[in-house]
Amino acid sequence: MGGGVDLARRALFARAMIANPRQVGAIWPTSRRAVRGLLDMADLGGARTVLEFGVGTGVYTAEILRRVGRKARVLGFEVDARLCRAVCARLDDPRLELVNDSAENAGRYLGGEAADVIVSSLPFTTLPAGAREAILDLSCRLLDPAGSFLVLQYSPALLGELERRFGRVRRRLCPLNLPPAFLFACEEPRTGGGG
Ligand SMILES: C[S@@+](CC[C@H](N)C(=O)[O-])C[C@H]1O[C@@H](n2cnc3c(N)ncnc32)[C@H](O)[C@@H]1O
Repeated sequence: MGGGVDLARRALFARAMIANPRQVGAIWPTSRRAVRGLLDMADLGGARTVLEFGVGTGVYTAEILRRVGRKARVLGFEVDARLCRAVCARLDDPRLELVNDSAENAGRYLGGEAADVIVSSLPFTTLPAGAREAILDLSCRLLDPAGSFLVLQYSPALLGELERRFGRVRRRLCPLNLPPAFLFACEEPRTGGGG
């Protein structure tokens, strides 16, 4: 990746952040180290269907496409139309569908399939409580019983909500991110979506 391209992406991200700070919830895109650290916590190579919530500048999307098989389906959701268009123009891959819609509506695009892996870098702590709960409940419902819900956060505050909805939650800290990132891998979704 060229330095100029990288800079242009960061500028686009900063612009989105200034326009909608609570929706974007970070000053920088996630570092490569944190992206890899989070994706290492699940089996992307064996996944048929992967959902990504909060595509941003596509830092996870590109790495997800590197890891999934030839027949996988990757569905990415991003509410910011400008960010969504920029990633669409950059990542031309038949396995990828980018949707300019909220993660809350992900079920509409899945056609009844379950997701093997869901990757989220949504800023759950600054999103409205209703949206946060709806997306966490939905993730529980859409995930295959043997699947993984991968979550990056900038604080451990979400842990209780994750443990309420999933039987197993693994945690790691990635200090090589600005700010340091908390990585969660949630498995064994409880039926009833956070019941
Ligand atoms: C912290 S940024 C992460 C961006 C990128 N994945 C990264 O790690 O650099 C969160 C992103 O989620 C998007 N977002 C916020 N609420 C959303 C929602 N309900 N559905 C889909 N995307 C959302 C924001 O526009 C922003 O691009």
